[in-house]
Amino acid sequence: MQRKDLKYYYGKAEKEGWAMAQFNFSSDEQLKGIVQAAVKLRSPLLLGTSEGDSGFLGLEQTSALVDAYREKVGIPIFLNLDHGHSIEIVEQAIEAGYDAVHFDGSRLPFEENVQITKRIVELAHNRSVSVVEGEFQEVPGKHSTLHEEETLKLKADEFTDPEQAARFVKETGVDALAVLIGTVHGVYKQNPRLDLIRLQKIRKQVQSFLVLHGGSGTPPKDLLAAIKQGVVKVNVSTELRAAFTEQLRKTLAANPKEITPYNIFPPVVEQVQKVAEKKIMFFGSSQKI
Ligand code: 13P
Repeated sequence: MQRKDLKYYYGKAEKEGWAMAQFNFSSDEQLKGIVQAAVKLRSPLLLGTSEGDSGFLGLEQTSALVDAYREKVGIPIFLNLDHGHSIEIVEQAIEAGYDAVHFDGSRLPFEENVQITKRIVELAHNRSVSVVEGEFQEVPGKHSTLHEEETLKLKADEFTDPEQAARFVKETGVDALAVLIGTVHGVYKQNPRLDLIRLQKIRKQVQSFLVLHGGSGTPPKDLLAAIKQGVVKVNVSTELRAAFTEQLRKTLAANPKEITPYNIFPPVVEQVQKVAEKKIMFFGSSQKI
């Protein structure tokens, strides 16, 4: 295990007013670009795979790939299971060597979610997983979509209730809580504004780290204010996928006869790296190793 675990970096981020990005990936080319960005900027790195991502790559293969980079590059790298929807997948990720797990019980009735999350916290902590993240309200918006719609209308009364959040954290013992204050999955022409007053109230009442999903396309000013108010991690997926596929399409269109992956992928890796560098600079985790 790395000397300073993910919890250490969440604590440092909270104290110093910056955040870690969680970069999701489902291919080695994406991973390469993300790692190069973090190495260049000397940022601690948090990687994430959803069930879809790791279903494609394989949990063991994902973990082995990350281990290989970890040994090579000399920066702290952590791997989180993103949106695990069952105890089984969480156990498999821990078995495969993931450093952190996110159990997403937001589709379950609240009490059932509390019971299962609590069991996961116990089993994960017994296996030296440093951060268990919980969620009881689904972040709206379809994942990894560049939506045609102008914006997504959100109802403020569906955002995280500070008292319910405090109860969830107390009863489950989660280390981090995904809160709903206006971020959405995917990118809209105009992503919704964040409810920063609510975030302040949650922060006052909740005894855990606070994290946000849906980092792509969020109004930068709001996101920065949320980070300054104590959000320690923001998930980013759609923008990385868009950079990957847009460049891949361009490269293939410009070189229709090229068939060699190592000639096709370098500009794709470069575009992914650019997005990751931008996020690291913006969230303030550069030079924080
Ligand atoms: P985006 O796709 O909006 O970046 O959100 C990613 C996410 O929250 C993964 O859990």
